[in-house]
Amino acid sequence: MKLLTPFELAAFSIPNRVVMAPMTRSRATPDGVVGDMTVTYYQQRASMGLLISEAINISAQAIGSPLTPGLYTAAHVAAWRTVTDAVHAAGGRIFAQLWHTGRVGHSLVRGGEVPVAPSAVRIEGQQHFTPSGMQEYEVPRALTTEEVAAVVEDYRQAAEKAHAAGFDGVELHAAFGYLPNQFLVAGANHRTDAYGGSIANRCRFVLDVMRALVEVWGPARVGIKLSPSIPFNGMVDSDPQALYTYLIQELNTLPLAYLHLMRPLFPLDAFPHWPTDILATFGGLFDKPIIANGGYTREAAEQEIDSGRAQLVSFGALALANPDLPARFARQAAFNEPDRATFYGGGSQGYIDYPAL
Ligand SMILES: Cc1cc2nc3c(=O)[nH]c(=O)nc-3n(C[C@H](O)[C@H](O)[C@H](O)COP(=O)(O)O)c2cc1C
Repeated sequence: MKLLTPFELAAFSIPNRVVMAPMTRSRATPDGVVGDMTVTYYQQRASMGLLISEAINISAQAIGSPLTPGLYTAAHVAAWRTVTDAVHAAGGRIFAQLWHTGRVGHSLVRGGEVPVAPSAVRIEGQQHFTPSGMQEYEVPRALTTEEVAAVVEDYRQAAEKAHAAGFDGVELHAAFGYLPNQFLVAGANHRTDAYGGSIANRCRFVLDVMRALVEVWGPARVGIKLSPSIPFNGMVDSDPQALYTYLIQELNTLPLAYLHLMRPLFPLDAFPHWPTDILATFGGLFDKPIIANGGYTREAAEQEIDSGRAQLVSFGALALANPDLPARFARQAAFNEPDRATFYGGGSQGYIDYPAL
């Protein structure tokens, strides 16, 4: 099957088109340092063509959830270096997913600091997990124009640290309602400076960050994850088709490694005019490899690659529960069932004890 054939992913030859999707597991120390279990977790999964790390906070300001890792101190770099060394020793490759949660956070997990965002617009109708249980989202503080430039600089520094930590590249998390996504959509971005208003202005932050990442990493080492039709975390826009069409056309001007497109996971009944077939609507606009994501089975992934709409497919829950996913695909073996109760936080159970075949 094509899913298990090699692919030239820009700077690399990878042995198969099975990508491990980025997955937060909330098993770092309170200071955001990953430990030995995390080394084992990624090394166990190194047979997948490309691993994308869990989302990693680029700064203290970026933090939104407890026990998520960071990439802004020397201790963070040293800890991630043990992970990347182990993945490389096992023959794998790993990108770091760079994360700023913006308004998807709570002062209770941020030492009393209210989260920052493009605008002081609260997430409605959802709650956030904090050490004190589920809480209403807070009204974030709007970043000043100078602060926006400082956040871009934080991304640049995290990209440099990712390099020092031995990663093979970086992915900007611009999906699922986090800070870059908050700049993109009109529902969360009411700014009147150069970072708000028109589509070009709302895309400026993401493009500034992507340019900074490419300046650090050079060609074919930087990817981006987008979720154009996922309203989660209040990501509402009147015209996602125009917004993401512009963004992807601008991304084509940069020497990127890939575009990671996450399909909608739920019905879009409340947004009948939003595109539902993301690969059909946006995939063809991008002139470099596409990683398709979102609910793929072995068969659906094979079909997607066969059709030419994507060159690679990333797997979340399946990769979490099946460390030897390519071997299972090859043998048409049964899968371990993901245990949702151990997705976020805890110890080795549900983390590094899923058996290989
Ligand atoms: C436990 C868990 C944690 C996740 N954390 C992240 C994350 O840190 N960054 C991200 O971009 N997506 C995250 N996701 C979403 C996955 O990357 C992926 O988009 C989603 O699971 C859909 O793919 P799937 O149907 O193959 O699981 C997470 C998903 C799961 C299950």
